[in-house]
Amino acid sequence: MNINKVGVIGSGTMGIGIAQVASTNGCEVFLYDIDFERTQAALENLNQLLRKLAGKGKLTLEEAEGIISRIKIAKNLQDLQDSDLVIEAIVENKEIKTKVYADLENIVSAQCILASNTSSISITSLSSGLKNSERFIGIHFFNPAPLMPLVEIIPGLLTDKKLPEVVYQLIKSWKKTPVIAQDNPGFIVNRIARPFYGEALRIVEEKIATPEQVDDAMKTLGNFKMGPFELMDLIGIDVNYAVTTTVYKDYYYDPKYKPSLLQQRMSEARLLGRKTGKGFYDYSENAQKPIPEKDEELYEKIFMRIISMLINEAVEAKRLKIATDEDIDLAMQKGVNYPKGLLAWGKEIGYEKISATLRNLFEEYQEERYRQSPLLKNLK
Ligand SMILES: NC(=O)c1ccc[n+]([C@@H]2O[C@H](COP(=O)([O-])OP(=O)(O)OC[C@H]3O[C@@H](n4cnc5c(N)ncnc54)[C@H](O)[C@@H]3O)[C@@H](O)[C@H]2O)c1
Repeated sequence: MNINKVGVIGSGTMGIGIAQVASTNGCEVFLYDIDFERTQAALENLNQLLRKLAGKGKLTLEEAEGIISRIKIAKNLQDLQDSDLVIEAIVENKEIKTKVYADLENIVSAQCILASNTSSISITSLSSGLKNSERFIGIHFFNPAPLMPLVEIIPGLLTDKKLPEVVYQLIKSWKKTPVIAQDNPGFIVNRIARPFYGEALRIVEEKIATPEQVDDAMKTLGNFKMGPFELMDLIGIDVNYAVTTTVYKDYYYDPKYKPSLLQQRMSEARLLGRKTGKGFYDYSENAQKPIPEKDEELYEKIFMRIISMLINEAVEAKRLKIATDEDIDLAMQKGVNYPKGLLAWGKEIGYEKISATLRNLFEEYQEERYRQSPLLKNLK
């Protein structure tokens, strides 16, 4: 199947990025948003950015102009009628999204693939109201879409069995790293990554260590590019909190994903990280980043606690076959920049050591949060 005409709905953070990716790879893009001015502004920003990059020699001026000229602003949904594929990236609201699909189904051809970039809504639930649910699939880009290689492809229960492969090939041809994920809350990355934030927050809430110590431990012992608190400040503490809350609720309040009160309070105080100038760190002009008090024994404890929780989550995803082992490891490296895949890392550290760390945590806290994946004890 040839996919040359791509409709993108929503010209916010994700929509304009997805439009750029499709256009860069030669597709004709129709970009629609209810807010026409927002789309104009987004396209103008992209124009300036690409010209700046061309000035620096990152691409030629012709390439930059080509990317811009292939993106057409759609004045209404009707303008998307010739699309081979439509990717929706509007507000994270099920009712609003499904209303758009109902309108869209009457406009596009019967062959047109419909996709959502949702981070947290079940693909099956988004598809079930459609006249043709088989053509619907999740295509989940990461922020910023033009830079992050990973794209999760999520077939719902009603999706045509051949569609994931078609989309996989398309995303590969767009020079991205596709992985196929089961339609579970958080898909692969947003589920497996939860303890990176959640366990770090607990360590700080319990006054075992400071945010800068946790960040330093994860960077020095784990080679993570950013520590959990630096990363939460970048993502936005409110956004990160909302993802955790959704995953927690959607797994029927599994204590493993219980959100942090500290994070809730920070959201309430609008200490949201870089975007408000202050989060776990201060981003104001003359602010000094606190220097962590190094403590070898404490750092080892922090690292083992967080990495064991992460590896346990990856092992549980493997057990439930949320994705293949290769895709589970690839997703964490290409979606959130982990230095290694977690399954490979578990093997390297030794699954017995991971299991012992979790057993000690469970004994200490008597909380189900620290239960082990049944598969963990069978892994060597
Ligand atoms: N921001 C992220 O980091 C990120 C990452 C991956 C996935 N997502 C998902 O991508 C989607 C979009 O997120 P975003 O961060 O780009 O949001 P955003 O708020 O930046 O943009 C959303 C856009 O949708 C438009 N819109 C709202 N209702 C509409 C409608 N009925 N028809 C047409 N346009 C409409 C708004 O005007 C706005 O421009 C969400 O489903 C989100 O969960 C976001």
